[in-house]
Amino acid sequence: MRLDKFIAKSTTLNKQQVIVVIQAEKILVNNILITDCAFQVHENNHVTLEGRLLKTRPFRYLLMHKPAHTICSNIDEVYPSALNLLKLNNDIEHVSELHIAGRLDVDTTGLILITDDGRWTFNITLPTNNCSKIYRVNLSKVITQDIVKRFAEGIQLQGEANLTLPAFIEVINSKEVLLTLTEGKFHQVKRMFSAVGNRVVKLHREQIGDVKLDVAAGKWRYLTPLEINSFYK
Ligand code: URA
Repeated sequence: MRLDKFIAKSTTLNKQQVIVVIQAEKILVNNILITDCAFQVHENNHVTLEGRLLKTRPFRYLLMHKPAHTICSNIDEVYPSALNLLKLNNDIEHVSELHIAGRLDVDTTGLILITDDGRWTFNITLPTNNCSKIYRVNLSKVITQDIVKRFAEGIQLQGEANLTLPAFIEVINSKEVLLTLTEGKFHQVKRMFSAVGNRVVKLHREQIGDVKLDVAAGKWRYLTPLEINSFYK
């Protein structure tokens, strides 16, 4: 990772203060003076600030039940970021270092995974890793066997070069289904149903890989070691 990020992750300095200490020639990496903020360091490098050895904080892994009218961005826009819910009781520090692995739309509710480990996120979001996501979908029109078959074969979405990967529908009732996807294209669920003449009226993510949503709307918890490692299969 970049030297400035490493220092931010191992001290309480803010971004500006990190730049100041780097430029003030206070940082040694493996006993060599480094003044380039973008210099690449590894977690096992010997990095010191005025002689004090720096160790990065351990990565954090959480799940949250995202409520509607929140966004999966680090900054508030028209709607507040779901990450604000981590700050309510001051339980979590350095929230700005966290990001959401696999976003949901503002009106979509359900499971989001939150971490500061970019490599872990990569495993979840890379389509070739086949990480499944299960959505509960309420529709404006009745689901048909033809749609079930077309989803399993792959749908041609506008502006996409390839068909969507096979997607599996379990019918709950005439206008409600559980949909399993292994990729995460922009607005994918809504675009797939729109492509077959139906419309999503409510969308809720229940599961990612082996991790199931088990907390109430707006609540979060840390993942267990088993859940964290399940994405390294
Ligand atoms: N697909 C969508 O269309 N929206 C979401 O929020 C997630 C998947």
